[in-house]
Parts: sequence; structure tokens; C-alpha cells
Amino acid sequence: MKVVKKVNSVSGSKHSVEERVIKFLEESEEDFLALWLENVILDDDDIFKDRVRKNGFQMYQLAKKSLLQTISDEELIELAHKVAKERVLSKSNIGEFVFNMNIGRSTLIKYVNKSGVSIQDLQPIIDRINDHFDRYCFLAVTRYTELKDIEINEKMLFVNQSHNDRLSLLGQMSSSFVHEFRNPLTSVMGFMKLLKNEYPNLKYMDTIEHELDQLKFRITQFLHASRLESAEKNQEEIHVESLFDDIISFLYPSIVDGDVNVSTKIEPNCKIIAVRDEIKQVLVNIILNSIDALKQKNSRERNLWICCVKTDHTISFTITNNGPKIPEEIRETIFEPFYTTKSFGTGIGLFVCKSIIEKHRGTIYCESDQHQTSFVIRLPENA
Ligand SMILES: Nc1ncnc2c1ncn2[C@@H]1O[C@H](COP(=O)(O)OP(=O)(O)OP(=O)(O)O)[C@@H](O)[C@H]1O
Ligand SMILES: [Mg+2]
Repeated sequence: MKVVKKVNSVSGSKHSVEERVIKFLEESEEDFLALWLENVILDDDDIFKDRVRKNGFQMYQLAKKSLLQTISDEELIELAHKVAKERVLSKSNIGEFVFNMNIGRSTLIKYVNKSGVSIQDLQPIIDRINDHFDRYCFLAVTRYTELKDIEINEKMLFVNQSHNDRLSLLGQMSSSFVHEFRNPLTSVMGFMKLLKNEYPNLKYMDTIEHELDQLKFRITQFLHASRLESAEKNQEEIHVESLFDDIISFLYPSIVDGDVNVSTKIEPNCKIIAVRDEIKQVLVNIILNSIDALKQKNSRERNLWICCVKTDHTISFTITNNGPKIPEEIRETIFEPFYTTKSFGTGIGLFVCKSIIEKHRGTIYCESDQHQTSFVIRLPENA
């Protein structure tokens, strides 16, 4: 990289003025450097603080040399890059470096002014010094920024990598646990059915069965999220009205507990070919989320509207609640895995919904304002 700004080079015959200035500077070198060091900012914790004097002295030597000849970018880059690296390693603020360098520049100019050379002869010398410091500052700060960017990118890479590692470890652990739970659960549920047939009047059977259904729902959810449940399942014709009857009786205890009024408006001809358990999983998740959101409402009127219509060959479900607004900036994020605002939430509900709907070639999105929140699902009739 070349710094474009150029100052006329000094011809050999005009050296006498510059030589006079250099001679004066060399005579007052000790004073000049002491004054500069007195005014610089130096952090006690700076691991390279001992090098600041040496670097400053080197810069001063180059500035003197620049009065007699043009200093190449390469020569300047060597010092600028070395200083930039030290500033990065010492974790210091680049503002301090720029400040110290400018103190060096103004102290040098102060001494040049005292050299006894006429103002007319001094101006081109001051221009050369300023140009020299400007180039040096540009090269050092540019390099410092590059090194800082590299450092930030490396850290980001590390953070992302370890986050991904932890997520996948968590996923593997939970899915293997969950898998182990499912087999005993299936057999307990089978024995429950047998018991119910043998002793139809046995107390608490419905409650136990309902709780086991909830457990099965959670386990299936985890398996969907971990994508272990990838085997193709059988599609069947689903009558949407009867599907909602089933869902509402499954969720009845939660609906009563949340004190929610549910209204449904389902067109009678709504049918869909899809995997029943999976579509049920999606709708249960969205209704459970709606009930949770409505519970945050203090006023009595907690409403949930379920609507299903058919247009051309598309079935559209709209599930609306009059709970709090979902802010615009998180309306996409809520579909990401592990995003939750609930103390006991897992944040995989909507992620599973989206995966299932997309697997059925459909779409799902959320609309929300201060009055109501709707989740809209569109599925092809023959998914
Ligand atoms: N109807 C809704 N109204 C307001 N916020 C909602 C609604 N549905 C979802 N959310 C927000 O989206 C987040 C993610 O929902 P998601 O179903 O994925 O996870 P969760 O309900 O927190 O946990 P779980 O895995 O147990 O379902 C919720 O924590 C909540 O903040
Ligand atoms: Mg949820």
C-alpha cells in the first residue's frame, strides 16, 4: 500500500537550511526528548511501555532524515507496523498512540521554530515534518485496525464454534435420554389400556392417561427437534374439524386452567392429507403458547380464535389470541431453536412447528400488534 500524498524532494544544493535545523535539533536532543516524554500518556500496565521511548526516538531520527531525503513507505511501514503490533498486544487504546505521536510532532516543531532559521525557510521544513507524521500515523492506525479486526474475527469464530459444539452435545445427550424414555413409556401406556379394559370403573385412570399423553407429547417434541425421528411416517386423510375436537379435548385441562374462551370457525369441507400426529403436534404447540401468552394478561377476557379455511388447494389455519404483542424484532427469532422467554420453556416448540410445516411443503408465520397475535399456517391440501 502506498500513501499518495507527496512533498517535493529536497535538492542537494539547498541542504544548508535543513542541515542547520538538524544540527540545532541534535544539540537540544536531550531536552527535546525529555519534554516529549513528560507529556506522553503512559499506562502503568502497558507491557511495552519501555519501548515507547525507543520507538519515539526512532521516529524522530526518521523525521530528521526526511528533511534531507524522501523516506520510502517501506522504511516507514517497518516502524509503523512494529508499533501497531505492540499497541495491539498491550491492549492499549489507539487514541493514546495518536496522542503521543502528536505530542512528538508538536514538540519537534516547537524546537524547529527555535532553530533561528527564518520563517520563510522554516515553512517547507514544517510541511515535510507534518507530512512525515501524517503518513506514519495513517500506516500505524491502519495496521492496528487490521490486527484488531483479525483478533475480533478469531474470537467470534471461537465463540460460534464452542456455542455450536455445546448445542450439538446438548442435542445428542437429550435425544439419547429421550429415546430411552420412550420405550418404557410406550409399554406403560399399553398396560394402562389393558387395565382400563379389564377394570373400566377404576378411579384416576383418565387422569393418569392424560398425564402420560402429555409426557409422550414432550418426548415426541424432543425427537423432532433432534431430527432423530426422521423416518417417513404414513400420511392419511385428516378431517380438520375432528382433528380440532381431538386437540381441544387433549388440551382441555390447560384451557380451563388458563381461563381461556376458545371459539372455532372451521369450514366443514376442510380436509388435508398429511401425517396426523405431526400436524396435531404443531397445532397443540401453538395453542399452548397462546394460552401461556394469555395468562400474562391481567384482564379477564382471554380469547383464542381458531379458524380454518380452504382456498383453491390450500388449507389455511389462523390461530389468534388477544395476548401481549410479540415485538417486531423477535418475530423471526421465536422460530429458532432454544429461544424462549419462559422460565421453564425449552424454546423448541416453534422450531419443531416450522420444521414439520416445511416438511409438509407449507409455510408458517406470525403477525402481532397490541390487540392480538396470530400464527398463520398454510398447507397444500395434499401435503
Ligand atoms: N402466542 C404467543 N404470544 C406471545 N409470545 C409468544 C407466542 N408464541 C410464542 N411466543 C414467544 O416465542 C417463544 C418461543 O416459543 P416456543 O414455543 O418455541 O418455546 P417455549 O414455548 O418458550 O418453550 P417450549 O419448548 O416449551 O414450547 C416463547 O418463549 C414466547 O416468548
Ligand atoms: Mg412453546
